[in-house]
Parts: sequence; structure tokens; C-alpha cells
Amino acid sequence: MYSRIQGTGSCLPDRVVTNDDLSLRMDTSDEWIRVRTGVRERHIAEPEQTTCDLAETAARRALEASGVSAAELSMIVMATTTPDLVFPNTACLLQERLEAPGCAAFDLQAACSGFTYGLSIADKFVREGGNGPALVVGAETLSRMVDWEDRATAVLFGDGAGAVVLGASEEPGMLCSRLHADGAYKHLAWTDVGVSKGFTDGPNGGIAIKLRGTELFKFAVRKFEELAKETLEAAGLGLEEVDWFIPHQANERITRAVASALGLPDERVISTIARHANTSAATIPLALDEWVRADRIERGDLILMEAFGSGATWGSALLRY
Ligand code: ACO
Repeated sequence: MYSRIQGTGSCLPDRVVTNDDLSLRMDTSDEWIRVRTGVRERHIAEPEQTTCDLAETAARRALEASGVSAAELSMIVMATTTPDLVFPNTACLLQERLEAPGCAAFDLQAACSGFTYGLSIADKFVREGGNGPALVVGAETLSRMVDWEDRATAVLFGDGAGAVVLGASEEPGMLCSRLHADGAYKHLAWTDVGVSKGFTDGPNGGIAIKLRGTELFKFAVRKFEELAKETLEAAGLGLEEVDWFIPHQANERITRAVASALGLPDERVISTIARHANTSAATIPLALDEWVRADRIERGDLILMEAFGSGATWGSALLRY
């Protein structure tokens, strides 16, 4: 028995902010952002629009595509670093909106790796037997965590959500996942404030994403390469069999460096960073849904997903769509 993706969905806020828009409010340029990151524009949520709003639209689209009703769900996993509230968790807020009472519902915080972590957990749950389908969502309003005065980080991020319905199947679906973390690298991407440590007087209580960009870049390239090899070896498959590589979209140059190190041709590497920027836990399900709806990913295609993020965390999922 396998777990298999039965449907995908995604949601981007309507408001598009271009690099030129940003250059009006900070000392940056379209050229710098494009050349250094690959980002051209990002979607930004309206002030009243929350992570759960984006997650709800993505989830409804995934449910519709799968033909599964919300009442059939056994689990909702919400990968997010930007929950609506401290509690109740955003998965419970979503559960009420979808009218799926009774199923397990929890948030998962593994920063940008959250979706791969969620998929891995849901896979085990669905395969256990006796459980119905799981809804795995990656949803973020990272614009609320960005210091809009800091050009080194503000240009990198966007808002969005993606979701999949994972159900039991006799046809191969999820084949293998590998999850890792190393807190010794907590200094690569962090915030200075939190519920227990306390907040400051700044905007959003002083929450601001801080990065050691160059170090993170090198760390990500190294880990992505190791992780791809580890995951494929565990599944007994070769890189030449991978139809699609969906890396976490943090920087186009990271994606290119990894693809080149692995010897993956460009046409098998999915990139959405130009239009979405880095939406943290949402980048992979957003990219997946776009390629599925464009009929580029077909049933049976072999997909390798990889993510890394603050923690440091990193994780993969190898699956047949
Ligand atoms: N516009 C113009 N100039 C800028 C900008 C900007 N937006 N940002 C930085 N610069 C300047 C810097 O001040 C620096 O100037 P200096 O040479 O005079 O000191 C110069 O550009 C080079 O800066 P670097 O930081 O060395 O640039 P780099 O090429 O490393 O690119 C970047 C920075 C884009 C952040 C890159 O390192 C990167 O993408 N790192 C990985 C980020 C990442 O992985 N994020 C995902 C994890 S986040 C999470 O988990 C929440």
C-alpha cells in the first residue's frame, strides 16, 4: 500500500509587487535582484488576508481536484512559520472552515522544509491503514516577518499557499523521504524575538527575518546535493529516472548550482522563483500545482522534491505523481 497525491491546489494573493516597486522604497534595483536571486516579482497578501485565507483557497482547490470531500479527511497538516495565531493552530482554523470536524489537525514548523516534513508524516499516517486521506498544506504570509527597511532580506520573500490531498493507493506514490536537521546551524536564518523570549516595540513586535546569506547559499547547495543522492539511493533509483526536480525556491542560483552538480538538465528542473520569490513552506506545493495544472507533470512521473530552511532543517520526498 502506498500513499499517493490525489489532487493539488494553490493560491497566490492578487497583489503583485515587482522589483521596480521595491526599488522605490529601498536602495536596490531590478537588475541586482534578478541577477543575484532570479526574483522578478512576488505576491503580497493584503493586510486583512491571513495565512489561513490563502491555505483555505489552496486546500479547496486540492480537494476539488482530488474528488475527496473534506469530511473524508483523517488529518490536516499545516506547514507554516507564519500561523494566524499562536493558538488555536492554523490547521484547526482551516479544519473548521472546510467543515472537516474530528480529524487530526496540527501545524508543523520546520521553516522552508515544512512541506517535505509534512508530506513524510502524512505518508506514514495514510499508509498505516484505517486512515482516510490527509491534506498537507504549505502556507505563508512571510511579508509579515520581513523588515521592509532591510534590502538584504526584503527582496527575497513572498506570500502564497499550496496543498495536496494524499490518499491510500495500490499504485506507487510516495516512495521515499529523508528528513534532517542540525541546530548547530541555527545562526544561518533566524529571528531575534518570540513568544517566550519576548517581543520589542518594532513593527510586528520586532519580528524580522535575519540571514547569513552567503553561508546559507553554500550550505544549501551542499545539502541539496547530498540529499538527492541519499534519497535516490534509499529508493534504489537513479537520477536519470527523475522526470522533475522541485527544489525549494530560495535563489535561482542555488537551484542552478545544484542541478549542475547533479547533472540534471534544465528542462527537468522546476523554477517558479521569478514570479513567486521565496514563499518558504509553500514554494514546493505551489510549483507542483502550477506544473500539474499546466499538464506538464503527468501521472506516473517521478518527482524529487528537496527543501532546506532555518533550523537548519532539510528534507526530501521522492514520489510518483
Ligand atoms: N540590492 C542591492 N544591493 C544589495 C541588496 C539589494 N537588495 N542586498 C544586498 N546588497 C549588497 C550588499 O550590501 C553587498 O554590498 P557590499 O559588497 O558593498 O557589502 C552586496 O550587495 C553583496 O551582498 P551579498 O550578501 O554578499 O550578496 P550575495 O551574492 O551573497 O546574495 C543573497 C545575497 C541573495 C541573500 C544570497 O546569499 C542568497 O540567496 N542566500 C541564500 C538565501 C536563502 O537560502 N534563503 C532561504 C532560507 S530563509 C528561511 O529559511 C526563512
